[in-house]
Amino acid sequence: MVEKVEMVNKVDNTALKGAQPDKPLLLVLEAFSPEALQAMAAHFTLIIMPSPQWPDAASLAPVAGSITAIATAGAPGVPQPIMDMLPNLKMVAVNGVGTDAINLQACKERGIAVSTTQGLQTDAVADMAMALLLAVKRHVVFNDRYVREGLWATKGYPPLGSGLAGNKLGLVGYGTIGQAIAERARAFRMEVGYFCRHEVAGQKGAGARFFPALAEMASWCDDLVLILPGGPATQNLVDGAILRALGAQGCLVNVARGSVVDEPALLKALQERTIMGAGLDVFWNEPDINKAFFSLDNVVLSPHQGSATIQTRVAMARNVLDNLLAFFADRPLLTPVKL
Ligand code: 8YV
Repeated sequence: MVEKVEMVNKVDNTALKGAQPDKPLLLVLEAFSPEALQAMAAHFTLIIMPSPQWPDAASLAPVAGSITAIATAGAPGVPQPIMDMLPNLKMVAVNGVGTDAINLQACKERGIAVSTTQGLQTDAVADMAMALLLAVKRHVVFNDRYVREGLWATKGYPPLGSGLAGNKLGLVGYGTIGQAIAERARAFRMEVGYFCRHEVAGQKGAGARFFPALAEMASWCDDLVLILPGGPATQNLVDGAILRALGAQGCLVNVARGSVVDEPALLKALQERTIMGAGLDVFWNEPDINKAFFSLDNVVLSPHQGSATIQTRVAMARNVLDNLLAFFADRPLLTPVKL
């Protein structure tokens, strides 16, 4: 199936030779499924640039002037050297909700439209937050290894886990996904608090306590779940002091961005067990993450899988294509980013 896709892995001017004049050139920086690429290739000539090639943005030079759109993922966004070398870039469609890795100011100044898959991954990411929380507190991964290594038979039952009911959950970020996590946490009979820029009014804020200060919420809660945007404004927001406030029984879950946590401070807290454990879907320097995590048995590691369900990714890829088609047909974007 994929053989029929009109795509170019090698970035050179052969991309232009096959291109039809009525098919705009789309630079693809995300690892879309073959089916999604097939659908895109019906409307665009695809220049597929896998992530290892990004440092070598110069290799785009032969086609740079003809690229008018990019389809990318949330975490990598658009590397600045790539953005700088595309003078005719008009549209960036993000297969994700995070725009922290895209220079939105430059997009605004250059009149580049941006879309995200806003609203489509709410349930998947909220489910992942609960999955990581349960995995850490009920030792799901630790116990799986315990059984496989034959320790149940030789050493008996492993140490007890910790339950969710009656615990206090502190959400850092209370947007659509944060609220979906709150809904799930309440079903687990947890008490919910949140920290974000403004108190959320009305029905959306009901059933959750607002904390204007993160340190105060970290002292209050048993479990801290991060679901806020990345970028300079939130970099290292969860530092050593916040982890100390969370305390020795506290569990940290990050389904946001690695950048929001001071990672060396987190590693120290996990190594010295000044927090109980962590469930991490995001890291500094993905995918080549700090190997110090590998030897810790109080952390559950996940390779940025928040939205990674078949159903969600199919809907997201469709949204990316629909936004691109809307843009090139001069119709309003489905899920635009306000610039
Ligand atoms: C996406 C993400 O799934 O939405 C985001 O910003 O980081 C992820 O949840 C990712 O962009 C898909 O590759």
